[in-house]
Amino acid sequence: MTWIAIGHIEDIPVRGARCVKTPEGKIAVFRTAENEVFAIDDHCPHKGGPLSEGIVHGKAVTCPLHNWVISLESGQALGADEGAVRTIPVRNEDGTLSISLERAVLAAAE
Ligand code: FES
Repeated sequence: MTWIAIGHIEDIPVRGARCVKTPEGKIAVFRTAENEVFAIDDHCPHKGGPLSEGIVHGKAVTCPLHNWVISLESGQALGADEGAVRTIPVRNEDGTLSISLERAVLAAAE
């Protein structure tokens, strides 16, 4: 598994996100109010809205375009909406964050 350093948790606002550009596309990295970090594709399963610009609440994000709510843990759309985005493993070592692109490649191929 290949871990790619993407910066420090303090680079991400609390209840906010950063968009990380990778060879596999844009990945949205979120920081919750509890300082948990999640990474999912920055591409809403509805019509591709930029989830990194959405509003974080609990362990979910509301898409800025049409308000779908996406779980940061599972990548699944919540409520009545159906769809999912890829989740990407994140490692937090004393605030230094890394994401695993190798796993992401495998997950995308499944
Ligand atoms: S593109 Fe995200 S809710 Fe429509």
